[in-house]
Amino acid sequence: MNNFVFHNPTKLVFGKGTVEKIGEYLKKDGIKKVLLLYGGGSIKKNGVYEKVVRSLTEHGIEKVEVSGVRPNPVLSKVHEAIEVARKEQVQAILAVGGGSVVDSAKAVAAGFYYEGDIWDAFIGKYNIKKALPLYAILTMSATGTEMNGNAVVTNEKTGEKFYFGSKYTYPVLSIVDPTTQFSLPKEQVVYGAIDAISHVMEYYFDTVGSSLIDRIDEGIIKTLIETTEIILKEPENYEARTNYCLATTLALNGLTGMGTNGGDWSSHELEHSISALKPEVAHGAGLAIIFPAWLTYVKDKISDKLISFGKHILNLKDEITPERTIKELKNWYSSIGAPISLKEVGIKKDDIDFLVEHATKHAPFGTVISLNKEDIRKIYEIAL
Ligand code: NZQ
Ligand code: ZN
Repeated sequence: MNNFVFHNPTKLVFGKGTVEKIGEYLKKDGIKKVLLLYGGGSIKKNGVYEKVVRSLTEHGIEKVEVSGVRPNPVLSKVHEAIEVARKEQVQAILAVGGGSVVDSAKAVAAGFYYEGDIWDAFIGKYNIKKALPLYAILTMSATGTEMNGNAVVTNEKTGEKFYFGSKYTYPVLSIVDPTTQFSLPKEQVVYGAIDAISHVMEYYFDTVGSSLIDRIDEGIIKTLIETTEIILKEPENYEARTNYCLATTLALNGLTGMGTNGGDWSSHELEHSISALKPEVAHGAGLAIIFPAWLTYVKDKISDKLISFGKHILNLKDEITPERTIKELKNWYSSIGAPISLKEVGIKKDDIDFLVEHATKHAPFGTVISLNKEDIRKIYEIAL
């Protein structure tokens, strides 16, 4: 186990009936006016919007709204929200939605104080120094954004999907009420689970770790597998939802990274190129395709870990090989309705040049194998 520092400043408020408490928390923190940021309208259909507005009103908190954040969120919406936040002189951002909304809110919170284009933070030209306080009500558990400082946004002018991570953009407080997620479409449950499983795998397959964190990793992934299968059959099973939601938060709030080299993250780098090319492909769907391809490419370096994964997570008995573990993982992804090849999402051989160029902008990356342009091409070819 490596030495490490763990510091997570986000207050997590978890469970049934917690959305209604937002006004109380904001008032306690002395916030009088917020920018309410949300997506395409799911919060109006499932009653979350109404609960939030009522709670804000009851506590005398003023709001201005920006809506229409789309999945795989875009920079122009971030710009629009920064302008509104400045014009209205809000004191905090309140993000209500999934990872796309919360990530956009982080960019807005940081962009509020930055005179240049906040895209600079995504391309390494600006190191965030200050941000408005961010409050989140998460309606889709997947990314872990509710308890980390990362944001992923697409610049639709350049076609680049990049991320930043900053200690200033951790939410001050995140509310996760699993009952708000009863309304999630099944495919979002599937993609959310695969995203969170991938976050844990990025650390699990790191070359440095510890037996304790490995056991925690295995517990999180097993929980996600079991609860996903239950939720797909019984969307309103509260016990399964709570376990699923908490597992996704713990997957990327720093816990699973303790004592590692920081994870590998190659599959995430490779996936962001897929959703940059095809914004309609959910991040979790892209990961279902690319992670097994990356595992196949690096399997000889992590064969013992792949065998452990097969044994402890997939419950395979006898003759466990790295190849079998990868095959069974793909089989499970397929069984819950995820795509496992680029072809299935309409990406053809001719598109590989775009994917390689986009991913190479950050290359070399990866700790198991440091991937260069040639490696990157080979992995996309495996994924075809
Ligand atoms: O826009 P609305 O109408 O709200 O609909 C959303 C959206 O269409 C819908 N939805 C959310 N909550 C719902 C609901 N529908 C019904 N009931 C509910 N309760 O779900 C759709 C997808 O939402 P989105 O926010 O895009 O999904 P997700 O949470 O998976 O976020 C994905 C984004 O996060 C980035 C991804 O790259 C992608 O851009 N990531 C962020 C990370 C981070 N900040 O740490 C790490 C991840 O690896 C990831 O890269
Ligand atoms: Zn992810």
